[in-house]
Amino acid sequence: AATVGRHRDGALRVGGVDVRELAAAHGTPAYVLDEADFRGRATAFRDAFSGAFADLCGGADVYYAAKTFLCTGVVRWLAEDGLNLDVASGGELATGLRGAMPAARMVLHGNNKSRAELRAALAAGVGRIVLDNLAEVDVVADLARELGTTAPVMIRVTVGVEAHTHSYIATAHEDQKFGLSLASGRAEAAAAAVLARPELRLLGFHSHIGSQIFDTAGFEVAARRLLGLTARVRREQGAELPEIDLGGGFGIAYTSEHDPLAPADLAGHLAAIVERECRAEGIECPRVSVEPGRAIAGPSTFTLYEVGATKDVELDGGARRRYVSVDGGMSDNIRTALYDADYSATIASRRSAAEPVLSRVVGKHCESGDVVVRDEFLPSDLGAGDLLAVPGTGAYCRSMASNYNHVPRPPVVAVRDGVARVLVRRETVEDLLALDVG
Ligand code: LLP
Repeated sequence: AATVGRHRDGALRVGGVDVRELAAAHGTPAYVLDEADFRGRATAFRDAFSGAFADLCGGADVYYAAKTFLCTGVVRWLAEDGLNLDVASGGELATGLRGAMPAARMVLHGNNKSRAELRAALAAGVGRIVLDNLAEVDVVADLARELGTTAPVMIRVTVGVEAHTHSYIATAHEDQKFGLSLASGRAEAAAAAVLARPELRLLGFHSHIGSQIFDTAGFEVAARRLLGLTARVRREQGAELPEIDLGGGFGIAYTSEHDPLAPADLAGHLAAIVERECRAEGIECPRVSVEPGRAIAGPSTFTLYEVGATKDVELDGGARRRYVSVDGGMSDNIRTALYDADYSATIASRRSAAEPVLSRVVGKHCESGDVVVRDEFLPSDLGAGDLLAVPGTGAYCRSMASNYNHVPRPPVVAVRDGVARVLVRRETVEDLLALDVG
């Protein structure tokens, strides 16, 4: 569904809008979000999962992971397009509600939810709360009683999978903060504790094995263990357990090195795994849900920067590297510095036939780790005033943006059918100063 292309004179166009017009109207840096791409991926996930699981368990539900990128406008699209929303804080919950996502279609996550967050979620009537530890069982049950309601809950299980991804974003091995461990029996103990509280309704088990994963093997192990657990708890504790949630984590191609599965293939694989495991366990298949974030939002957006200073450095062995400074950096994309993430860059404002030189795209912040794109061949005539696009910045860039050096955060501009619409306005220095009250 991507609508990115080049104008006759070489300038980048997206959603029918020329990037030079975007830069003139909205400034740089800016996150440029291709609405058709975002919504196309979201609905592709929706259709792929409801299709692949239709015969097995009447379809599967897709919860978009709000942490990836969230604003009211995007929530409206998701609500309209029949997706659900995974929120992990009071702020994400409030944004979901502001965007008119029905509370029943939201799930609340978190390893240390506050009572205020839990109370807000229960009062709004969220469809499920994922319990992350034993203490939370009683906290949620007591709050539900106070509010005179029943809380639909799931239990987050640490299934013991070593996902092949960066250690900061792998989440299902034993030695980390999330969830109740399967191996130690805590997940089953939590189920018993939930079943003992009439204010709670146990929907099933949840696992999220990590992020930016390409291999379905990890999901296979997770599904097998969750379904085994489901079978056991149904049998031994008499619980109904109508659902399981396999989390998100589906990888995207930041560079040509990666080859992600299409949603339909992914859903097909997972459905086959779930079917086989349910048969092996001799149980009726629970309704399945997944929580993709990156795979929906990531490819939809590029960051548009203006090039400023450049500097050439002689490397050992005689090679050269050019430092290309842009007007943003680690404040709008921390992923390169934090995870050693790979991005690419392309000249956006014109065509250049100049010879490509090994370049490093860096930001304007006061440290040398402020790198946006580690290695890219960019035209040797690239210079001040040129626009540069860094694709694949729709996931965990705006949502993890900071105000380092008191740099205001860039806007998010959605483009579609030749029209640009600001979803999130540019922050101003006045916005920042407004917080200083002493
Ligand atoms: N569900 C749960 C419970 C999660 O914790 C996450 C992500 C997701 C779903 C969505 O995962 P995705 O499909 O987007 O991979 N900041 C890191 C990623 C952290 C992911 C945290 N949890 C990054 O920039 O790579």
